[in-house]
Amino acid sequence: MNLESSRAAYASGAELNESTALHNPIEQLREWLELAYATPSIQEANAMCVATAQSDGTVSARMVLLRGLDERGLVFFTSYGSRKGRQIAENPRAAVTFYWPPIHRQVRVEGAVSQLPEDESDAYFATRPRGHQLSAWASEQGEPVEGREVLDERLVHFSERFDGEEVPRPHSWGGYLIAPDRFEFWQGRENRMHDRLEYIREGREWKVARLQP
Ligand SMILES: Cc1cc2nc3c(=O)[nH]c(=O)nc-3n(C[C@H](O)[C@H](O)[C@H](O)COP(=O)(O)O)c2cc1C
Repeated sequence: MNLESSRAAYASGAELNESTALHNPIEQLREWLELAYATPSIQEANAMCVATAQSDGTVSARMVLLRGLDERGLVFFTSYGSRKGRQIAENPRAAVTFYWPPIHRQVRVEGAVSQLPEDESDAYFATRPRGHQLSAWASEQGEPVEGREVLDERLVHFSERFDGEEVPRPHSWGGYLIAPDRFEFWQGRENRMHDRLEYIREGREWKVARLQP
């Protein structure tokens, strides 16, 4: 490891231009996600860092997986009682970052956060593997626990409780929708002269500006 001298050269030749960028940043994100998914060296192209903040200004960030993208915005699933859930309840906004190193691209998104309608959370929960569904019952995300064995016992407890039946979604677990009002697309370029396009929502339109690298 050499923190001071390791330097990646972003010289793929790819550019980001006002003339070719899509008018709708949600579609632009979809296009970049599709390339990230099609790039074999990228694992979990839908992994994103989500930052939230509470009313005293404390900020926290963590990775989650993007599970939905439509004209309303970005969807991820989690425990509503978690630290992020509590922060969102206090301050319903989030900032998101994707980074795909092999294609030298970063996307930043900011917006208002709301809980996804219950029927959509139910529908997604029903698609999860059974073990994942059971762990949503067994784990109170973010609460301290005396040891791993307590979690293992709780998993056994819930697998017995729901034996032979479908596992229902716990009400404490579900989706969040981030309704974006700002995007930034960053394409790494040679000599740190990167391309950055910012999209700011103005009513139903998006205003695009090039930012200095
Ligand atoms: C690649 C990756 C993907 C993750 N995806 C999720 C996710 O979709 N939902 C989730 O609740 N936690 C996910 N986690 C765990 C979170 O990073 C975090 O530990 C957890 O949500 C608790 O965060 P909090 O205490 O800030 O609420 C993921 C972690 C990694 C490394």
